[in-house]
Amino acid sequence: MTTFVHQNLDVSAASVVASGAALYPAVDRVSAASTIALHPNTSPATDAQRAAIMENPGFGKYFTDNVVRAVWTKEAGWHDRELIAASASAGGLGINALHYGQSIFEGLKAYRHADGGVFTFRPEANALRFQRSAHRLALPPVPTDLFIGAIEALVRQDEVWVPTDEEQSLYLRPLEFGSEGALGVRPSMHVTFVLMASPVGAYFPQGVKPVSVWLSDDYVRAAPGGTGEAKCAGNYASSLIAQAEATNNGCDQVVWIDAIERKYIEEMGGMNMYFVYGEGANARLVTPKLTGTLLPGVTRDSILTLARDLGYQVEEGTITVDQWRAGSESGEISETFACGTAAVITPVGRVDSKNSGSWNIADGGSGEITMKLRKALVDIQTGKTADTHNWLHRIL
Ligand code: COI
Repeated sequence: MTTFVHQNLDVSAASVVASGAALYPAVDRVSAASTIALHPNTSPATDAQRAAIMENPGFGKYFTDNVVRAVWTKEAGWHDRELIAASASAGGLGINALHYGQSIFEGLKAYRHADGGVFTFRPEANALRFQRSAHRLALPPVPTDLFIGAIEALVRQDEVWVPTDEEQSLYLRPLEFGSEGALGVRPSMHVTFVLMASPVGAYFPQGVKPVSVWLSDDYVRAAPGGTGEAKCAGNYASSLIAQAEATNNGCDQVVWIDAIERKYIEEMGGMNMYFVYGEGANARLVTPKLTGTLLPGVTRDSILTLARDLGYQVEEGTITVDQWRAGSESGEISETFACGTAAVITPVGRVDSKNSGSWNIADGGSGEITMKLRKALVDIQTGKTADTHNWLHRIL
């Protein structure tokens, strides 16, 4: 095994795809909020300020009063685990993350149930993906107990920010970045982990309505050996020009095609995709398989299970642009949807492109099966139905 001199990193490939193991195996519940020192904000938002925000929070525009922060150095490992005011600064303009993009993040939500309890959804899966992203970006992994302990500590401290409106939730944003002020191109020797929280409503301003998508012929999101399966800042930075192109062409979102053959559908924006073949009880769902260039979505993974629970056949496979167009035109493909933590499940209604034509999804985006799956997932997350897969993690 080769090790990296700066951090003794294992530099062997740790691709999710190559491992062959279950993507997000069931694990014992971890709880470790007690290891985090509490130094909360002494000037939190007033009840009136918070109420005004919660009236219409949008997505990711406002943050709660506090954050959890921990620091890593080679000598001390992860230390200074503390909950502090959200206004605290995390380094100057020289930090590695700003110059070379050594930065990863996660996204998950806390939901308030009707009985007042607060839960999050499969946090161990996000912790595992965060560790895999860290590996790819030569960052030290945040241990699962710190990741989950930070969530528990922050949500308990900032509980008043967990919305009661069932269309809203508290979006949790774990972030890890190189925070050493140094311009040498090498892994940062000082790394910061921060957990932030933001009350949110619907991700797309129009709510759960069919989106139109633009096939990106000119730009590539990820190539084999690249960072496609890591949730790193750079993937999102490089997607913005293609998203702008989609917008300029009257579409809501961009759809990515594989880098090598330029024909396989990979993802929509920052979300995974599903294609529904046939209708009713005989429907079959296909989602692009994880080839190493796709983000291994926790929502994508949950839908694989929920769709089977609902009696549908489900496959991780491939679909080309031509197959998508022909299948939509013939009606063989009845629905298409995208999924992710932020927007949950969103139907696709129309496709447009420079080189491959334009077409409507057969059902026009009304999404009978799409919406059935959305309800099945949201009902578990919000406590309206039994959590038969033990996905919920109680915080309060
Ligand atoms: C998600 O669906 O959770 C995402 O990754 C979108 C996020 C970057 C806002």
